[in-house]
Amino acid sequence: MAGKSEAAARAVDVWKSYGTGEAAVTALGGVSVELDRGRFTAIMGPSGSGKSTLMHCLAGLDTIDSGDVWIGDTKVNGLRDKGLTELRRDRVGFIFQQFNLLPTLTAEENITLPLAIGGRKVDRAWFDLVVETVGLRDRLSHRPTQLSGGQQQRVACARALVSRPQVVFADEPTGNLDSRSGAEVLGFLRRSSTEFDQTIVMVTHDAVAASYADRVIFLADGRIVRELHHPTADAVLETMKNLDGDEELVVA
Ligand SMILES: Nc1ncnc2c1ncn2[C@@H]1O[C@H](COP(=O)(O)OP(=O)(O)OP(=O)(O)O)[C@@H](O)[C@H]1O
Ligand SMILES: [Mg+2]
Repeated sequence: MAGKSEAAARAVDVWKSYGTGEAAVTALGGVSVELDRGRFTAIMGPSGSGKSTLMHCLAGLDTIDSGDVWIGDTKVNGLRDKGLTELRRDRVGFIFQQFNLLPTLTAEENITLPLAIGGRKVDRAWFDLVVETVGLRDRLSHRPTQLSGGQQQRVACARALVSRPQVVFADEPTGNLDSRSGAEVLGFLRRSSTEFDQTIVMVTHDAVAASYADRVIFLADGRIVRELHHPTADAVLETMKNLDGDEELVVA
């Protein structure tokens, strides 16, 4: 079962629209993608191209119209309410653009919240390693308002990682950060993939952010139109300039 080539998450011909009749929007028009275990993948594409929708569908936060979505060997679209709740809580981590920390809780309490909700014990050694890696050791008793934006987002990263999820999904995690704080967060995501074998999927509009990833997938009009491996920021910029939803997939 194990092995690096096995997909941590997978979409197979996924279709998803919003609204009905004339107002219907096809957010995903037949997306198939495998996200390899332990790899860091970036998703890029114009506004409205379906990036957030794809991540939400993969993470079991939104339903699909047809196709299949897998997290490891679990078919997400086959799960009922209880199974979905457990999947979201125990097997995926989500990092949002707006951090989504609870203001009344300290950094430490925010980080361990998913475990508390799931009734799981905190693995202290793992918690310490994550906190050390995000560089929050001396900020654990602070509340979100007492932390900088970059520190808050690193708390959100630690919260996503502390339950050792099969996949961490991050939707524009550096969108609200200055470039230095953004680099801290990206460096942490990169390390968690390299050092902890954590699978990461990150939406970004920033070519430099995407260059931290092992692979970049480009969406246009709800379809995957390009892919880059070992991307440089220049290669990402060049690809974005030439994005066109009508073109066939080209793997560089
Ligand atoms: N809840 C919704 N109801 C109706 N339409 C929606 C909903 N969510 C998304 N859409 C539509 O689906 C399409 C894809 O949206 P999505 O949020 O996935 O885009 P995105 O690539 O993440 O864009 P951005 O870069 O602006 O975040 C868009 O046309 C959007 O208007
Ligand atoms: Mg989005």
